[in-house]
Amino acid sequence: MGPLIGAIDEGTSSARFLLFKAGTTEVVASHQEELSQIYPKQGWVEQDPMEILRIVDTCIEKTIDKLISAGGNVSDIVSVGITNQRESTVLWDRNTGKPLYNSIVWLDVRTSSTVDILLNQVPNKTRNKNYLKPLCGLPLSPYFSAVKIKWLQDNIPEIKKAMSAGTCMFGTIDSWLIWNLTGGINGGVHITDVTNASRTMLMNIDSLKWDPVLINFFDIPTSILPEIRSSCEVYGSVANGSLKGVKLAGCLGDQQSALVGQQCLNRGQAKATYGTGCFLLYNTGHTRVNSSHGLLTTVAYKFGPNAPAVYALEGSVAIAGAAVNWLRDNLAVLPSFGQAQKIAEEAEKVQSGEVYFVPAFSGLYAPYWQQEARGVIVGISEDTESCHLVKATLEAVCYQTRDILEAMNSDYGSTLTCLQVDGGMTANTLLMQMQADLAGVTVLKPTMAESTALGAAMAAGAAVGHWDLEGTIDIPAVKWTPRLSENERDVKYAKWKMAIERAMGWDM
Ligand code: G3P
Repeated sequence: MGPLIGAIDEGTSSARFLLFKAGTTEVVASHQEELSQIYPKQGWVEQDPMEILRIVDTCIEKTIDKLISAGGNVSDIVSVGITNQRESTVLWDRNTGKPLYNSIVWLDVRTSSTVDILLNQVPNKTRNKNYLKPLCGLPLSPYFSAVKIKWLQDNIPEIKKAMSAGTCMFGTIDSWLIWNLTGGINGGVHITDVTNASRTMLMNIDSLKWDPVLINFFDIPTSILPEIRSSCEVYGSVANGSLKGVKLAGCLGDQQSALVGQQCLNRGQAKATYGTGCFLLYNTGHTRVNSSHGLLTTVAYKFGPNAPAVYALEGSVAIAGAAVNWLRDNLAVLPSFGQAQKIAEEAEKVQSGEVYFVPAFSGLYAPYWQQEARGVIVGISEDTESCHLVKATLEAVCYQTRDILEAMNSDYGSTLTCLQVDGGMTANTLLMQMQADLAGVTVLKPTMAESTALGAAMAAGAAVGHWDLEGTIDIPAVKWTPRLSENERDVKYAKWKMAIERAMGWDM
């Protein structure tokens, strides 16, 4: 089969392992498993780090079984890359290797009160959310890892103790996986890559090093932090299992990895990934663009220890596919996620006033950054049926994307006309047409669906000389173009903005 590159894709809802033929988009074997979500209280979202390890291991072993059944050899696997849900925070004990608490998942909002306390530390009593943004590119929000570490330090006595004793280790999911895969307590390497580190609020976005001012602001011991490495280099080798001896050689946060996998390697290219949330990244090249419209500045990738970093502007939407799940699980108006398109299409046939749904379940991320916002549904009449709510849910994904595109256009000073898309929700062709209509952009979806895993495979392949990152791959794509007139689009968008106004500040 020739050289193969593995990619571990550990997302919020599932983990998978894929084997790519080096330098190509061809997947020769893969396996995927769901991950459990733990909701101890309203707004709290946790995962069991040991389950994450077990499931990643199962995915690897089952993929290898499939490879062997198809006549392949494990010895063809030359390196493995990792891509992961970002910001989710694990603290563990360096002597036992055991987690000191569950992973606090990026979506968790228990730290709203921690943010509130931290805002009081901002000089001159301004409570400015963007106080640290010039250093790390991010606003103070429950979303980012440093705030989660602070909560764990303040609320879990074992963690405070382990921090004082110097036995506590911190990692986002990439670090947790890499440390364990390379041997754990028997010599595991404690590292993260620049893209994941750029989501912690502890890394300086220019120097790409842990920043003393940030560390001091959060009052976190430096001894817990992993070493920051590039996204494309050999970090170590797998210590056990079927991949024993294979090099771990690439690492990117999942949204950055999707940008790479979508071949958005030039300034001015952007992608949107529609999953639990929706994440838009806009490649700004070697220049970091400071947003004045609520976007984040983040590291897109750094292909090698001596390569310069490439930056991105990012707009994150907390709730996209999660709102469709909510219709299914909490309101029971949808038998399955996959039925959303069919049911939303019925809304076209039944006349009703327009319904707008802002799914701000746990506040709003970009460009509003309002943790006090809550969900609203407006425009309901006696003719409204559940299909209208389903349609409004899909439209909410598109309007939130337009909010971010508007911010990107303003920050970057030019208008993006083409958006490359991926993620589970892009199977919904109605959603894709709505996105083109409501944002006024051409939507391009590559026929190769595994953009996120591909990005990690490209980095891991390049690190061992089996992938040429200069020659991007030409991936065929399906295209949707806007059908609404500009006037129709703007009238609808003005109503969306009115709905947003109603959602803001609800939970004061
Ligand atoms: O920032 C959170 C993001 O990385 C999660 O992505 O695909 O695991 O929901 P996903």
